[in-house]
Amino acid sequence: MPLIREIIATTIGADGTPHLAPLGLIAEGEGWIAAPFHPSTTLANLRAVPELVANYVDDVRIFAGCLTGRRDFPLLAAVHLRPPRLAAALAHAELRVVAIEEDENRPRFHCETVFEASHAPFRGFNRAQAAVIEAAILLSRRHLLPPETIADEMRRLAIPVAKTAGPAEAAAWEWLVAAFGAECT
Ligand SMILES: Cc1cc2nc3c(=O)[nH]c(=O)nc-3n(C[C@H](O)[C@H](O)[C@H](O)COP(=O)(O)O)c2cc1C
Repeated sequence: MPLIREIIATTIGADGTPHLAPLGLIAEGEGWIAAPFHPSTTLANLRAVPELVANYVDDVRIFAGCLTGRRDFPLLAAVHLRPPRLAAALAHAELRVVAIEEDENRPRFHCETVFEASHAPFRGFNRAQAAVIEAAILLSRRHLLPPETIADEMRRLAIPVAKTAGPAEAAAWEWLVAAFGAECT
């Protein structure tokens, strides 16, 4: 199994409009593979402008926000590539697509890292953050999962949220619970 890092990807469309989306980057030696599903804005953007900024964040409201219609997070210019980075990123990497492995459902964009920078310290693991990311993945796959699986998982994930969340994690969790509605009770 390859290492996968859950990041917030920033890409831009042909007209320069930035787009934020949670993405699992697959490790490949010194590089990364981005594998966006078809159809998605991230996929269309990578075809138009083959550059991606990987934002390493610990504010899980950005993961939950992207999936619940809240994408208005402050952005800053990147250093070498056109997509911007998140102001909230603890660190970011600027990735250029060097090869595309075509696939009908999920093409794989092989990327090289052209620049990396750190902006703030990593302050350790938090179980509520991990739970929010798992719940965000459930929400992004809700059309593939039986409702009882979602309800079971959300009941399990609610425990570390209740025990370890700060205000940002609690807000992110509430956005996801509201988006599931009756499905997670
Ligand atoms: C932690 C996490 C990882 C994700 N990884 C991927 C991924 O690798 N590929 C993908 O297509 N969608 C992934 N998703 C789902 C997308 O973020 C989501 O469906 C998004 O809306 C993509 O579509 P868009 O580019 O049109 O916004 C992930 C979601 C989460 C919460």
